Amino acid sequence: MPNNPRHILVTSALPYANGSIHLGHLVEYIQTDIWVRYQKMQGNQAIYVCADDAHGTPIMLRAQAEGITPEELIARTSEEHQADFAGFAIGFDNFHSTHSDENRELATLIYNRLKAGGHIHKRTIKQAYDPEKQMFLPDRFIKGECPRCGAQDQYGDSCEVCGATYSPTELKNAVSVISGAKPVEKESEHYFFALGDFEKEIREWTAAGHIQPAIANKLDEWFDAGLQDWDISRDAPYFGFEIPDAPGKYFYVWLDAPIGYMASFKNLCARREDLDFDTYWKPDSDAEVYHFIGKDIAYFHTLFWPAMLSGAGFRKPTAVYCHGFLTVNGQKMSKSRGTFITARTYLDNLNPEYLRYYYAAKLGDGIDDIDLNL
Ligand code: 2FM
Ligand code: ZN
Repeated sequence: MPNNPRHILVTSALPYANGSIHLGHLVEYIQTDIWVRYQKMQGNQAIYVCADDAHGTPIMLRAQAEGITPEELIARTSEEHQADFAGFAIGFDNFHSTHSDENRELATLIYNRLKAGGHIHKRTIKQAYDPEKQMFLPDRFIKGECPRCGAQDQYGDSCEVCGATYSPTELKNAVSVISGAKPVEKESEHYFFALGDFEKEIREWTAAGHIQPAIANKLDEWFDAGLQDWDISRDAPYFGFEIPDAPGKYFYVWLDAPIGYMASFKNLCARREDLDFDTYWKPDSDAEVYHFIGKDIAYFHTLFWPAMLSGAGFRKPTAVYCHGFLTVNGQKMSKSRGTFITARTYLDNLNPEYLRYYYAAKLGDGIDDIDLNL
């Protein structure tokens, strides 16, 4: 053991509680697990936590479709996920849930501190609403024709054919994916996090080597485009935590998801005498916090998350490590090509060590995609 072991908290992104773990997810869990094992072998105190990401519209609707409660769905998925991870020898020190008491307390605390700091604003906005299902529609629950190229059956935010991005109100002949009804526009009051208040601080943080160069370049583009206020609320019906002073309004799933990293660690601290939550999360902490994520969610982890932490009086991450996506035989994983392989299907047929080795041999510190060539 070294004389001064480092105190290191490590996370992988929290998988959604409405889907199975597949070989794409495993790139990240295997990468993180290897890194954590290395740190433990060095004699450092390395703690690896994760959780299911249990909130949001897709989880609410999935439970409804199955005729069960969201709580039942997330309990079942949690067991399935944990069995899959164990099958691949992913050595979490804790696996928790964002739908937990710890997460509710921390999300409330962070929100209240951001609000007290003047970083939360209310504003009325117009959004697409399903008059039959009587709920506001996230972009992915609206389909129609692309306003630019006319392609059919495109989502409310972007066209997969021509790459155009737009707002759902611009889609032609739009329908709700849930009921088939034509969406109407409806106003409601939303809560926004003033990300721009933290621009100087986040610019300094990103310039100080906490992220990979390729992500730093991406961030420069985002800074140049201007940091927009972030809508952190959603209207009922929604599966999540109700905002304390706003009945009928819920925290957007992405507000409480990263807080789930802290919540999982807090849950572990309650069982482990050698761990202290504040030692890791106080602003001037000597402990280190590392997040492993896919490059698609860098915006949340390198802008919103450090800003939220700072605004709420917590330390920022030591580093955010991004990896690329997994392709299979050079193409996006696809159900029709038979290359969408779940963790369970793999485990039923092959030795998990083969995949661990294969990914380990291909992974590095870059964000390029890696290919699984069968
Ligand atoms: O993209 C996803 O799959 C999200 N569930 C990741 C959340 S990571 C963290 F912020 F919780
Ligand atoms: Zn198009």
